[in-house]
Amino acid sequence: MQTFSVFWILFCSIKAVVGQETAQPFYISGPFDFVNGKYQDFESQAMDLEGQYCKSSCSERFKKLFWGESNYRCAPCFCDSDCYKYNDCCPDKILFEKPETEIQPDTKYGCHGTIIKNEQYQEFYQMIDKCPESFTNQEIKENCHKSDSLHWKYVKPYFDFKTKETYRNKYCALCNNVMNSKSYETQITCQTFYDYGNSINSTEVYYHVINNYKCQVRFNPPTTQSIDKRQCGAVYQPFYSKCNETGLWGFFDERVERACGLYTNIVNEKYKNIFCRLCNEKIFWRDLSYEPNRRIEVGLFSMTSLLNLGDDDDTGFFQKTRIAHQQNLQ
Ligand SMILES: *[C@@H]1O[C@H](CO)[C@@H](O)[C@H](O)[C@H]1NC(C)=O
Ligand SMILES: *[C@@H]1O[C@H](CO)[C@@H](O)[C@H](O)[C@H]1NC(C)=O
Repeated sequence: MQTFSVFWILFCSIKAVVGQETAQPFYISGPFDFVNGKYQDFESQAMDLEGQYCKSSCSERFKKLFWGESNYRCAPCFCDSDCYKYNDCCPDKILFEKPETEIQPDTKYGCHGTIIKNEQYQEFYQMIDKCPESFTNQEIKENCHKSDSLHWKYVKPYFDFKTKETYRNKYCALCNNVMNSKSYETQITCQTFYDYGNSINSTEVYYHVINNYKCQVRFNPPTTQSIDKRQCGAVYQPFYSKCNETGLWGFFDERVERACGLYTNIVNEKYKNIFCRLCNEKIFWRDLSYEPNRRIEVGLFSMTSLLNLGDDDDTGFFQKTRIAHQQNLQ
């Protein structure tokens, strides 16, 4: 009996404490509780947390603190002056040098995958993916912008030898008046010889390979000279750039909300930054340290071959001999 009432009193006083304070219980502390007092200014606190998670920064001050492999969940970021053009500056450049409201990214670029595996894109790069406003041929314009097809005519990039720019497909090169462009090479890779399927028709091989999880299609630049391919992070809809758009945020924290609006460094392909993720998922700052920060690669790809795809719908035949030859080398 006595034990019971002691327990009851204890229970009530805990409830009272929790009820009084709007602050969170310690076990679900907000991220800023971990860096409180470490810095005077809010930007440094946010950058410390950001650095702990993504591990990418430009300034020596944070580089020293957070070294190591950057977290694959965060989009790649850069420190050169082009980062204002591509809108991919590392967060400390935005937080301490030039706020996001002052930069004007070049909207002609978009982020597109150069590998298709299991009908999903992988390895993303910046490419010109828009036609000029003034361009009048609607059909070419629509083909340049088309995003719901995996047909190579819409997803095979073109390289412009003069400007060294990459266009998302030949229609985008056309409407931007590119004279001397060449398509990327189509490389197909499977785990074994048999994963390619039985067809020798290029169209059929292409669709077979992009559907087979043991294979991948990769588009490579048509030149060995070094080209400045700019890596980027994919973005999928719905994209969350404000707090609690999902309605899943458990504990309000004004600092997280403020940091979510401050800069862009995309996380998990759908959050503007790590803080926007924290206020749109049922997840706590401490949980993040248990996430693996390295992608687990599955499958070894050993059989590589080039696929000769026609410029339009016309198809060639797949050079099986080439694969057979490579297999002999194994
Ligand atoms: C290749 O296959 C596609 C789809 O099955 C077909 O439409 C096309 O005519 C074939 N091409 C050749 C050259 O046989
Ligand atoms: C988030 O939105 C949901 C649904 O609208 C609401 O119930 C919840 O209280 C909100 N969370 C915070 C922390 O504001």
